[in-house]
Amino acid sequence: MKKYYISTFGCQMNFHDSEKISGVLNAEGYAEAGGPSDADVIIFNTCSIRQKAEQKFFSQLGKMKAFKKRNPGLKIAVAGCIAQQEGDRIIQKAPFIDYVIGPQNINLLKDFILNEEKAIATQDNPYLQDTDLPAERADTVKALVNIMYGCNNFCSYCIVPYTRGREKSRAAASIVREINELSQKGFKEVTLLGQNVNSYKSEVDFPGLLERIKKIEGIKRIRFVTSHPKDLSEDLIFAIRDYENVCEHIHLPLQSGSSRVLGLMNRKYTYDEYLKKILTIRKEIPDISITSDIIAGFPQETDEDHEETINALKEIEFDGIFAFKYSQRPGTTASLMEGQIEDAVKSVRLYEILDLQNKITEKKNKYLERTTQEILIEGPSEKGHDKLTGRTRTNKIFIAPLHDGKKPGDIVSGLVTKANRHSLYGEFV
Ligand code: 5AD
Ligand code: SF4
Repeated sequence: MKKYYISTFGCQMNFHDSEKISGVLNAEGYAEAGGPSDADVIIFNTCSIRQKAEQKFFSQLGKMKAFKKRNPGLKIAVAGCIAQQEGDRIIQKAPFIDYVIGPQNINLLKDFILNEEKAIATQDNPYLQDTDLPAERADTVKALVNIMYGCNNFCSYCIVPYTRGREKSRAAASIVREINELSQKGFKEVTLLGQNVNSYKSEVDFPGLLERIKKIEGIKRIRFVTSHPKDLSEDLIFAIRDYENVCEHIHLPLQSGSSRVLGLMNRKYTYDEYLKKILTIRKEIPDISITSDIIAGFPQETDEDHEETINALKEIEFDGIFAFKYSQRPGTTASLMEGQIEDAVKSVRLYEILDLQNKITEKKNKYLERTTQEILIEGPSEKGHDKLTGRTRTNKIFIAPLHDGKKPGDIVSGLVTKANRHSLYGEFV
């Protein structure tokens, strides 16, 4: 039996694309290898959102030359965003690579492996939204589900519109069919994936899609990522408020607290407009958790702009953030802007952002001590064999000792006895 090994970098979208690659290869009679050394096919599913992610892949790729020398029959594929961006340049750089396949074309990978010596697919795929590949999911409780692909926003720093193409929404009926099947297999939670779920459009809009999914028996929790602040509608806020199985958590990337920088980023909202949406969300759903993304050291960002980001973090008090140093991505408009910021300055700004947010996150988690939360148990905890881990509806990690046969997939009450910035600890009650 032939074996494959997948090495995945980057976001949930890539993680789920890898699940589909697994599903397709399993259906073809392949098995998953324990590691790259006993594989007949190695697939790198790559990320190019920041330079760091790219470097991780290129350092792994270096080792592949020796692998191929030892086993000339080995096939190596590069998929994901670097594949899309680099195309045949990857094969020129590393001739031992057999296939280069962009995120819109993973449906072709199986045919390449079976029938082609060497092949490249980076073309636009107009049928992507109608191509439902069978995913082999790593988890048994929660599942990722694509609702749309690509992005039309062209934030000036971002490579995604170039690597994943224009927005394409899946038909609501096929999304509902997939989630029905997941429910029948025992899944309890779905996370709907799109670069900007608020611009989802088929026969229904995004709140309309939630309205259909919420009726699916057995799906206790619905999450979604990512929301673009400019498209966040009142209807969505009401859906989170009113639909019992839509979780009280929203990831709403702010990127910067300076309206001037937001303009340079082409985000299409000002800080005041963003804040107004936050206030509406919190008015309608007081216990919601709100998380965000921040970029430190965007071109032309001054100390004053940075201070505005710091003030925004203090004013909003997110439950958590992902923060990154701005990374110059070839082909994006920001990469050509004057006033690129020195790395040392970016590092200081990032440190200040993270240091402040760590304190806020810890404080917000501590508010939850002595409260009871609804927990969906996900599996054994890394903190010990005698513990289980799960999440609150607000997406916070909850860890507790085994209790009364409670098991992954159960929805239970959890009393929080202790909290730090990473997790909540407690007991099942
Ligand atoms: N540099 C730094 N961070 C970036 N992101 C996207 N592109 C870049 C870049 N060039 C961040 C944004 C986005 C998240 C997924 O990654 O904050 O919301
Ligand atoms: Fe990138 Fe902006 Fe699209 Fe998000 S919305 S993927 S940050 S271009």
